[in-house]
Amino acid sequence: MSEYLKQSAQLGNLDRPQIAILDFGSQYSHLIARRVREMKVYCELYSCLVEAQELAAHKITGIILSGGPNSVYEEGAPHVSQGVWDLINERSIPVLGICYGMQELAYVYGGKVAPGQEREYGKATVKSHAKDGEDMLLFEGLPEEFIMWMSHGDKLHAVPEGFTKCGSTENAEFVAIQNLKTRMWGLQFHPEVTHSPMGPTILSNFVVKVCQSPTDWVMTDYAEEFIQSVRLQVGPEGHVIGAVSGGVDSTVAAVLMNRAIGSRFHAILVDNGCLRKDEAVKVLKRLREDCGINLRCNDASGRFLEKLKGVTEPEKKRKIIGGMFIDIFQEEANKIIEEEGKCDFLLQGTLYPDVIESISYKGPSATIKTHHNVGGLPASMKLKLIEPLRELFKDEVRELGMALGIDEPSVWRHPFPGPGLAIRVLGEVTEERVSILQEADDILIQELWSAGVYRDIAQAFVVLLPVKSVGVMGDGRTYENVASVRCVTTTDFMTAEFYRMPYDLMERISNRIINEVRGINRVAYDISSKPPATVEWE
Ligand code: XMP
Repeated sequence: MSEYLKQSAQLGNLDRPQIAILDFGSQYSHLIARRVREMKVYCELYSCLVEAQELAAHKITGIILSGGPNSVYEEGAPHVSQGVWDLINERSIPVLGICYGMQELAYVYGGKVAPGQEREYGKATVKSHAKDGEDMLLFEGLPEEFIMWMSHGDKLHAVPEGFTKCGSTENAEFVAIQNLKTRMWGLQFHPEVTHSPMGPTILSNFVVKVCQSPTDWVMTDYAEEFIQSVRLQVGPEGHVIGAVSGGVDSTVAAVLMNRAIGSRFHAILVDNGCLRKDEAVKVLKRLREDCGINLRCNDASGRFLEKLKGVTEPEKKRKIIGGMFIDIFQEEANKIIEEEGKCDFLLQGTLYPDVIESISYKGPSATIKTHHNVGGLPASMKLKLIEPLRELFKDEVRELGMALGIDEPSVWRHPFPGPGLAIRVLGEVTEERVSILQEADDILIQELWSAGVYRDIAQAFVVLLPVKSVGVMGDGRTYENVASVRCVTTTDFMTAEFYRMPYDLMERISNRIINEVRGINRVAYDISSKPPATVEWE
């Protein structure tokens, strides 16, 4: 049994019915999980190479085979193991194969897959061939013709044994197939992407109508379930430590932990001197005073800034800050262990996308993660991990935060990088330059909230450039710093667009920064998209 399974078992998840998504490396696999969760159905993503034993430990109501970059007949192409097919047959688990997943069905059940004449990519009109009654199970509620998103090279030239055709396009005769006896469906198109407007209906027909999955995945149950299971796991005398940053993930995780075991949860805030204006004080107030969390703060600003002296290279800044963070966290953790006699557990705010990243099948087009949060304690600490958010997407964490009654600014706070303002003060990081940036950044955030647009933006910040410009203030000439405002919209931070900020708001922000922040006399607005730019400047 994998480490995760053992942990899930302790958390009592094995009994919860779930849809299992077997991932063949498609860039859309996580979207399938999103769509299923949106129906309030619990689901988990597994590698397509998952062992039958691992799946057998769960109550699987249905299996979705994702798309993938391979061709089913090419050498080294991934396939579902015979053990998993046996399990599917033994338990009569319904299966939905999407794109490569459909070709996998054909591969196993003797259909004929061959390279298409040309790659089909984009919207296509699908004609339904399903008739009445059971035949319509998957397409129920859909018109006879509907638009779906295609993205494939190979296509099916003959249906596998026992299957019938239930959808076609002008280009491809078999874009939807079904076997009502074994309850297996294959779709050449992608119902999970937003470009497939009828996609949610098809997925819901499969997940809810065919698989009869319970639609009871709600956040308050989730919190209650976690609290009960963590009490069991930690026991009546166990202690847990965890870092908090003021971000939504660590705040939600800390509030849950506090509700579960009170002051036996020890939260640690490390002030690296590169936080937002008054951030440490605000986090202390919110978490300690308002939420009653047993929180200690180590103000290590001086130590961090000392180490950053003379450093201008971004990756070097990251390394220094990451390393120092671990040292200081460990020092604090050791103090707690000394005071309490022992501490066996570490709380981490890992989210489901990180879990997906670590378990998904890596095809040739696998994405490469560029940034990691500062964290990762030395294994020598031998702490057992508690990760209450590892099954949730970011918006679900926010929903949970709201259900727990956490204040709106904390729940909707934009992500903030571990190295903080150190990678937004371009060039050398000094106390003075951090302080200039803190003031400008504070004005930007205030104005976005008061204009009511903060939640429309995924991330907003100011960058202090290592450039000076000439200006005029009153009767005098100034020669001061230039700052750039960066506001982006995105869902996953892999790509991003600059936020189309209304001019009057831009004007207000620029005026306030230039008038109120000593040391900045010019403000620019960053209009770069990612790619080719990145969100952060460093
Ligand atoms: P980029 O600049 O790569 O940023 O487009 C994407 C997201 O990652 C955040 N980011 C970081 N987060 N440590 C972090 O914890 C880092 O070193 C780091 N660098 C970038 C960035 O703020 C954005 O949300």
